[in-house]
Amino acid sequence: MKNTEKILSEKIKNICNNYKGSPTGGYISGDGPIPCDILFIGEAPGKTEVEQGKPFVGMAGKTFEKYLNLINLERKMVRITNSCFFRPIKIKKGKNGRETVSNRTPKISEIKLFSDILNEEIRLVNPKIIITLGNTPLKIFTKFSSIGECHGNIYFNKKLKKYIFPMYHPSALTYNRNENFKAMYKTDWIKLKDILNNPRSF
Ligand code: URA
Repeated sequence: MKNTEKILSEKIKNICNNYKGSPTGGYISGDGPIPCDILFIGEAPGKTEVEQGKPFVGMAGKTFEKYLNLINLERKMVRITNSCFFRPIKIKKGKNGRETVSNRTPKISEIKLFSDILNEEIRLVNPKIIITLGNTPLKIFTKFSSIGECHGNIYFNKKLKKYIFPMYHPSALTYNRNENFKAMYKTDWIKLKDILNNPRSF
């Protein structure tokens, strides 16, 4: 592990091990080269991500990678990270006394725990463009509160001095099987491809 990765992962470990709030189920760091021109930021890891120690390797990750490949990119060419580095979980006890564990959306306070680390990661990665996946990172880096208002367009974050390209979270395709939605999602990836291939457009 390179020194920069080590610094980030030690800080993440420290925060996660000291967190005494709502239940969590393990944690991970970002994945991919540092520095890197393209940075994707998701919400938080799920079960598979914690098991494999990498972001976007579960069901949403399969969708993500399929579209990434569609625009001629491979995982090793991009940096992928999250807004929250631990897996936020909720634990329910059934009538039979058995516990079921499921993912939950991270709380604002939980995202804030990691804001310095995420900013440090962005500084180290120094991307030309940040692609936010879903509403959670969108709210951190833009004034929008819903991905439906702004997906597929490019914005400039003055504070970060970075271009932001908001996209739907890949898990949206699992929940929304409507053909129009699928076509729109694909169009956003093609728009991203055009932007990346034409750096003067941003
Ligand atoms: N969803 C996310 O937002 N991040 C991951 O790493 C996996 C699924």
